[in-house]
Amino acid sequence: MVNRHLDPHLNPWRGHALRIEARPTVARHCHGASERLGKRAMSRHIFVLTGAGVSAESGLGTFRDKAGEGIWAKFDPMKLATPQAFARDPQTVLAFYDARRRNLLAARPNPAHVALARLERELAAKGDRLTLVTQNIDDLHERAGSKEVVHMHGELLKARCQSCEAAHAWLNDLTVGDACPRCDRVGALRPDIVWFGEFPHHLHEIDRALRDADLFVAIGTSGAVYPAAGFVAEARAFGVPTCEINLEAADNALLFDDALYGPATEIVPAWVEETLRT
Ligand SMILES: NC(=O)c1ccc[n+]([C@@H]2O[C@H](COP(=O)([O-])OP(=O)(O)OC[C@H]3O[C@@H](n4cnc5c(N)ncnc54)[C@H](O)[C@@H]3O)[C@@H](O)[C@H]2O)c1
Ligand SMILES: [Zn+2]
Repeated sequence: MVNRHLDPHLNPWRGHALRIEARPTVARHCHGASERLGKRAMSRHIFVLTGAGVSAESGLGTFRDKAGEGIWAKFDPMKLATPQAFARDPQTVLAFYDARRRNLLAARPNPAHVALARLERELAAKGDRLTLVTQNIDDLHERAGSKEVVHMHGELLKARCQSCEAAHAWLNDLTVGDACPRCDRVGALRPDIVWFGEFPHHLHEIDRALRDADLFVAIGTSGAVYPAAGFVAEARAFGVPTCEINLEAADNALLFDDALYGPATEIVPAWVEETLRT
């Protein structure tokens, strides 16, 4: 685990003194033991935003990374992840998501998902609260035991009817010949996910939770896709301490008060353990 405050090479932009310690420990702003929380003396509310990095070690590909190996380095998102692409060539778009759905059904939650489910459970037991917002379209948080997951970019294991707007659980391949289970219309079903150019879901609920949070933590997200990439600035504007947990610094890393760098399966369980102790 690398703590940015302890490494001047990872932290060249910060003016304040670095803590010099023999071994990296946890970052000061990452656990919700903030002055803000002390002053409020109320129940604690932690807001976690997850991205593709939290599912990377479950074998699901990320979208962008600095090694140029993300999904969008191999495929053109404009041909696969826009409403226009779907209107032009539904078979190709559906086949892309069929492959991803099969991949997801073969994947398992990893220790980072399990730790976040534990965080939700144990915060609730103390009268505290977790808001878990994910950009991921997988269901690995749920399969690890998380009860309340806000899927701002939709869900791969659902199909939505463009005619009646009903969403249906969908585990099989999706074809242009499939009929909507509610209205029977054939050819109107699409993956229930948010494509480029479409509005993410639950933005009002997310905004309310950001205002109310005592700590904002972004895990495994590159900070490149808005509006999620802007949540850290929003949290800061509300005076909420912010922490990045990532394999490497995100595009918006400068906006975080603190950071913990390393693989999610190692860093997230350690962070949860420390946070529950704080
Ligand atoms: N329809 C679609 O398929 C579509 C289209 C466009 C955008 N999007 C959305 O864009 C969103 C933004 O992407 P994102 O930020 O979630 O993913 P991303 O691929 O852009 O970034 C992944 C991040 O995870 C980090 N990472 C990689 N392995 C890690 C590990 N083992 N542990 C910790 N971190 C690790 C990387 O360093 C990187 O910062 C996506 O979630 C996706 O919903 C989806
Ligand atoms: Zn329908």
